[in-house]
Amino acid sequence: GTGVGASLMLTGCTVGTAKVLSTVGTLDFANPLGIPPLAPSTIASDGARLFQLTAEAGNSHFRPAAPTPTWGYNGAFLGPTLRARRGEKVRVAVHNALPDPTTVHWHGMQVPAVHDGGPHQVIAPGAQWIPEWTIDQPAATLWYHPHVHGKSEEQMTRGLTGMFIVDGDGPNQGLPTEYGVDDIPLIVQDRAFTDDGSFRVTSDTPTGLLGDTILINGSINPYLLVRTEAVRLRILNAATARVFNFGFSDNRTFSVVGTDGGLLPAPVPVERLMLSPGERAEIVVRFKAGERPVLQSLPQELGMSGELNIRAGGNDSLDLLQFRTAAKLAAVLSLPASLATPASLDLEEAARTRSFILKDMYINGKLMDMSRIDLTVRAGAVETWNVSNTDHLAHNFHLHGAQFRILDIDGVDPPPEFAGWKDTVFLPVRATARIEIKFSQYADPATPYMYHCHFIRHADMGMMGQFTTV
Ligand code: C2O
Ligand code: CU
Repeated sequence: GTGVGASLMLTGCTVGTAKVLSTVGTLDFANPLGIPPLAPSTIASDGARLFQLTAEAGNSHFRPAAPTPTWGYNGAFLGPTLRARRGEKVRVAVHNALPDPTTVHWHGMQVPAVHDGGPHQVIAPGAQWIPEWTIDQPAATLWYHPHVHGKSEEQMTRGLTGMFIVDGDGPNQGLPTEYGVDDIPLIVQDRAFTDDGSFRVTSDTPTGLLGDTILINGSINPYLLVRTEAVRLRILNAATARVFNFGFSDNRTFSVVGTDGGLLPAPVPVERLMLSPGERAEIVVRFKAGERPVLQSLPQELGMSGELNIRAGGNDSLDLLQFRTAAKLAAVLSLPASLATPASLDLEEAARTRSFILKDMYINGKLMDMSRIDLTVRAGAVETWNVSNTDHLAHNFHLHGAQFRILDIDGVDPPPEFAGWKDTVFLPVRATARIEIKFSQYADPATPYMYHCHFIRHADMGMMGQFTTV
């Protein structure tokens, strides 16, 4: 099959020329991990939960030498964590106090297209935008970021990114749930600094901007104090170009409990977990008293996948976050055997199949055109999309207003830790993913949703298309 052909073709490639970075063992982990605050909210007269977000410029102090000019929501860098429950109506008053136009996109959220915050919902400097929707999807770790066409990489690099946690409407599934204590958001990013202390904001590789400094929740060289036997980590790869292959310094096994769009049917034990830009995972890690394991990103190991990851800018060995566990840890029960109900992962049969080819910043030979609708889908439909990366670079594929299941990648079932709801799928060089998508139930023939590569530089360059639901 194609997989064999691809690995034969890659045998001759050398890794010797690629610049490989290693920070393993070199960090001092001197700084406590920052935790984004939970956004305060009020209940409006119509019962909606109302949040306020202001996109603004400021200065951040990542390094002692010089402050870094950054952008954030309700602060200088990143944004607060929004949190709401399934069934709730949510309204967000977004104020743009930046010098440039921006948008706020609710990545992974099922919202009407006019409230989606894509490239058509631009907020001018000084203006306000007030999207609202009712949350109608399972508990999940989602996020928000700007989506101005051609400017997304720059605005995200400056710091505009936040998390949005959706809670389920049923009982808790037995997972750690105390925000910032045993339920920890991890917004993982890389940055490069110039001599004057600013962020570099222009791309230096075909994949996008790759930095040599890791920020987690905006913290540099961070550690986290652990006081419980188990901790849930909500990991968001919020880098613009870097692929992370997460694991621990002692190769311990951890449990993947959730993917982009919700909980898995059951916890999946793994030692490594690879996330490309935009993807999330919820994992549960167990600890012993008095230890200091380090969360790392390690090179993909052998052959084809190693080569692919190099091309995605992820072949570095990076120390990310040190865990310092207390001398005595509070007991935590072991994970439940089942998490999401099987029914919540059911999909009816696909109504139709479409195919997409990603190559040279084009999708099916076309660059993004804000005035062209590329395709129309029935609201609420289920469709199968075959998405092929025929390029010499890694890409990934994300679409708005929907979640999907991965049917297979190059004919092989996804590993169990990727078998849940997804909104972004990694596409190694020459890989084809077949995904089964449940589309937004909101019809709007006038306002498109986006599909695009989430190596966001590529979307900026035109690797994006538009669809409406009717
Ligand atoms: Cu993370 Cu089009 O979005
Ligand atoms: Cu791409």
